[in-house]
Amino acid sequence: MITSQHPGLSSWPGCLVECHSVRLILDTDPGVDDALAIMYLAAQEDAEIVAVGSVHGNVPAAAGALNALRVLELVELAPPVTVGAARPLAQPLQTAEFVHGEDGLGGHAGPPPKGTVAPGSAAEQIVRLARANPGELTLLALGPLTNVALAVLLEPDLPSLLRSVVVMGGAVTVPGNITPYADANFYHDPEAADLVLGAGFPELILVALDATEQARVGTEWLAALAEVKSPRADFANNLLDHYGQFYSNMFGEHSCTLHDPLAAAIALDPKLAGYRKMPLGVELTGTHTRGQVVSDLRSISSDAYISTKAGAGRAPVKVAESVDVPAFLDLMFAALKD
Ligand code: RIB
Ligand code: CA
Repeated sequence: MITSQHPGLSSWPGCLVECHSVRLILDTDPGVDDALAIMYLAAQEDAEIVAVGSVHGNVPAAAGALNALRVLELVELAPPVTVGAARPLAQPLQTAEFVHGEDGLGGHAGPPPKGTVAPGSAAEQIVRLARANPGELTLLALGPLTNVALAVLLEPDLPSLLRSVVVMGGAVTVPGNITPYADANFYHDPEAADLVLGAGFPELILVALDATEQARVGTEWLAALAEVKSPRADFANNLLDHYGQFYSNMFGEHSCTLHDPLAAAIALDPKLAGYRKMPLGVELTGTHTRGQVVSDLRSISSDAYISTKAGAGRAPVKVAESVDVPAFLDLMFAALKD
């Protein structure tokens, strides 16, 4: 892991050799799988977490920031962590402790972090860093998109200032998880999701449930990791045990889906997935379908017909469809057993 505190690189005006580091701004609502995504990133030599912003979602934003600090301290990283939006753009706050536990980390949050949050908001942090590092930073969004939407409103040129954006969220051709139509991240702030998908980011990868539901770990994988004893593995196993128990109660099988870790892995190596490019929108007025991704899946040229208003005229996004699941699960196992 190369961090912004890494003495060798970040203070160097340029790299001695070609740098392969992906420099990330992480926007997150930790959250069990968010925590596992941070652990994954920390184990990657080619990843640099430049800064972290929390957002409401699995837990309130302030709690999420403290959880991010806890996990970052466990993996010995210290990027600045700012607190982001406390509520969605246009609906009351809803959180998901029923999935992630009252403390957001499956009951394993432990004592308060030693560090404190950095001043300013997550949205301002995104804008400040994008302006200071034009074209260099990848924004990895693992929670509701409220901070990203606010950052676009603060800085309309954001799409040209970020190298790329990778979003975990949505359900394009598969059912939702928090409702039959929407995933939790888009459901928790549909307006923000729609604004981001229509903001014109030239390189936006959407890692929706279509991809993440393929990244499910079962009893064998979980049992193998449970054999690994180390502070990091112990913490990961505690998180996965809680998550697996939730899935067991809900679906009758002790398994769990690594939504955010897959998005993190794809942010570092987009070749882990295959993509379909299409303009997308998000349903905002459906009584039952708020938060649903709307797209024109017809194979015909939609110019010949009435295009979905939500997608028409928008820059297409890259929707991850196929996933190299064995490769990802091997990478994830290797990261957590460190
Ligand atoms: O739908 C899954 C997403 O919602 C993940 O990011 C999970 O952490 C929750 O935020
Ligand atoms: Ca998340």
